[in-house]
Amino acid sequence: MKGLNKILVSKAELQHRVKELGAEISLDYHGQELVLIGILKGGAVFMADLMREITLPIGIDYMSVSSYGNSSTSSGAIVIKKDIDTDIRGKHILIVEDMIDTGLTLQHLQKHLLTRDALSVKICTILNKPSRRLVDIKIDYEGIEIPDEFVVGYGLDYAEQYRHLPDVWIVDTLELGIH
Ligand code: XMP
Ligand code: MG
Repeated sequence: MKGLNKILVSKAELQHRVKELGAEISLDYHGQELVLIGILKGGAVFMADLMREITLPIGIDYMSVSSYGNSSTSSGAIVIKKDIDTDIRGKHILIVEDMIDTGLTLQHLQKHLLTRDALSVKICTILNKPSRRLVDIKIDYEGIEIPDEFVVGYGLDYAEQYRHLPDVWIVDTLELGIH
């Protein structure tokens, strides 16, 4: 496809890492009440794979959020475009995300969910771009660390395209005319 010339993370690598994360989460939350919250739209692909690697009874829900992003407005500003309908009071929450980049969105979302009296709110991401971080955020379960490249596939899009690709591709921004 135009602008996509290089696979950064293959389907096989993703599958392998997702299995490991599922096993780790299953051990850590044994005997506890866990709800996975997938972040739409990007997190939906990872969420579908991850939940099938967890061997505990779990609840699932989805949320869509956007953040007023910049480092000077870390006031908790977050817009919920689609909310969960699960009552999370007294439950352990694991946010399931495609990518942590600046960290702003998830920092705000984590704070927000804690105000709803969840017992704990932890973060699981399949991809992590630490070089772009603007805020200090603890990632409890990290899939694969990637360099500062714009990537698509496995849920991630460019202009709402390419989310369905099974591998993660580097976007050649020059070839696509993105600045
Ligand atoms: P933060 O708040 O951590 O937001 O900056 C992370 C969100 O930014 C998007 N993002 C990307 N989307 N390719 C994409 O398609 C990328 O390389 C990329 N880096 C960040 C993504 O939606 C993620 O949830
Ligand atoms: Mg996203």
